[in-house]
Amino acid sequence: MGKIIAIANQKGGVGKTTTAINLSSGLTYQGKSVLLVDLDPQANATHGLLSLGESYQENSYTVMMEEADIRKAIVHKEQPKMDILPSNMSLAGAELVMDKIDPGKEALLKNQLAKVQEEYDFIIIDCPPSLGLLTTNALTAADSVLIPVQCEYYALEGVTQLLLTIRLVQKTYNPALRIEGILLTMFDIRTKLSVEVSKEVRQNFVRQVYQIAIPRNVKLSEAPSRSLSIFEYDPKCSGAQAYQQLTEELIKRNKRG
Ligand SMILES: Nc1ncnc2c1ncn2[C@@H]1O[C@H](COP(=O)(O)OP(=O)(O)O)[C@@H](O)[C@H]1O
Ligand SMILES: [Mg+2]
Repeated sequence: MGKIIAIANQKGGVGKTTTAINLSSGLTYQGKSVLLVDLDPQANATHGLLSLGESYQENSYTVMMEEADIRKAIVHKEQPKMDILPSNMSLAGAELVMDKIDPGKEALLKNQLAKVQEEYDFIIIDCPPSLGLLTTNALTAADSVLIPVQCEYYALEGVTQLLLTIRLVQKTYNPALRIEGILLTMFDIRTKLSVEVSKEVRQNFVRQVYQIAIPRNVKLSEAPSRSLSIFEYDPKCSGAQAYQQLTEELIKRNKRG
């Protein structure tokens, strides 16, 4: 059974999508089969890997609403070799419609992923920057949640709120949900702030924090414009090395059980 990891933080611009794309890709280079689920109406993961022009009429939203078959909606990409359940703008109104489904509105994604979970080693969910019903669906479907934290002022603001949401989902819908880890992103060794923030996060969350911090690296922001992960775009850059290390660390932690 594939492990389902939600990448969540209700703050925008902290590196969720960049991590979703490059962790998914990193896992495929380790021989794992991966499905990347784009649950953000902004569809950044979708457009960072697939063609910009396309609007994907069958997507994570129509699948959750049972208007499309998940197997038909999934797009197969060759480079990097992974499957993608795309998103499109229709997800923007999703929460309003989904909210009326009762009971079971929080388990729409879980029910659909269950149909394909056996076919993958990992299913990575890229969450939107909010703690609404879409993120609740991701947390209900997931085995664990990976939290990117940007090395900036107020980095921890919001993480407390996210942890409360996680606890609530554990209590009501998904008692087995675990914290996969906290990932420091956009780390810049030259700035005092980055160093201070990373110190603070490591003091607060100790072993939950990944050893590797993802450095600020412009190549990471360029790769999506070519529909590539960092491993095809520039495999030698510091961003690629860091995401490679994250992938290895994550696999190692999962072996330890
Ligand atoms: N380590 C990094 N170095 C440089 N730019 C980055 C890095 N991580 C993300 N970015 C850029 O920062 C912006 C926000 O990142 P993104 O992954 O989209 O965040 P989120 O999904 O949390 O909103 C994007 O333009 C992305 O390309
Ligand atoms: Mg995003």
